[in-house]
Amino acid sequence: MKNLRAESIEKIGKAISSRIRRGSLLGLGSGTTMATLLPIIADELTVRKVRPRWVPTSLQISLVAQGLGQETTAMDRPMLDLVVDGADQIDADLNLIKGGGGALFREKVLIGSSKSTIIVADEKKLADRLCSGGVRIPVEAHPFARVPVAERLRMIGGEPRIRIGERGFPFYTENGNLIFDTGFEPVERPSVLEGEIKSIAGVVESGIFTPRPLEVYVIEEDGGYRVLKKN
Ligand code: A5P
Repeated sequence: MKNLRAESIEKIGKAISSRIRRGSLLGLGSGTTMATLLPIIADELTVRKVRPRWVPTSLQISLVAQGLGQETTAMDRPMLDLVVDGADQIDADLNLIKGGGGALFREKVLIGSSKSTIIVADEKKLADRLCSGGVRIPVEAHPFARVPVAERLRMIGGEPRIRIGERGFPFYTENGNLIFDTGFEPVERPSVLEGEIKSIAGVVESGIFTPRPLEVYVIEEDGGYRVLKKN
């Protein structure tokens, strides 16, 4: 049986690669979708002899990029040309939940410092509103503030749960922080909730993203894709 998801990702990878120019500084998101997409983008870039520099958002994706011979670098300019990333959920206005892999802090910095952003995600991640279907918002918090942050998240209607790794130990981000995967009722005003979460002392970053301009490449089940846009 043909792998239609792989077919779709291959088409998307080629389309994204054709937009990458010589000398570009690009943000590289983390996660499984990016790990599948990047080899396709890298192959296309090799054929076109284009060598961009990538700013990775985690060690996970750094290792993938370096294994493919892609150049990785620090954020040495105030603006990136483009960020390519995944997402955990996308609402009808193209607001996002991100941070399933714990890389939300760097992803927020790069997306906030980029001329444009491309998100690649499976169709099943589209929802009417954020937090539909029990999807939780990752909130990165300094360990010192664990107890008050949890309480403040409850006060704004959240149900925080400390992220636990596979063997039962708390999960620490690459910044040495904890993640509260926080349940909320379906979110009506994502940027308001984002602001409320960010204003809690001890919170480093929230997994609500409201970037502009934004393009979402949707991986379709029939092997095709479509692009949703927001200016
Ligand atoms: C990493 O912290 C995330 O923001 C990812 O982009 C998001 O969790 C999507 O991950 P997958 O591509 O693995 O579903």
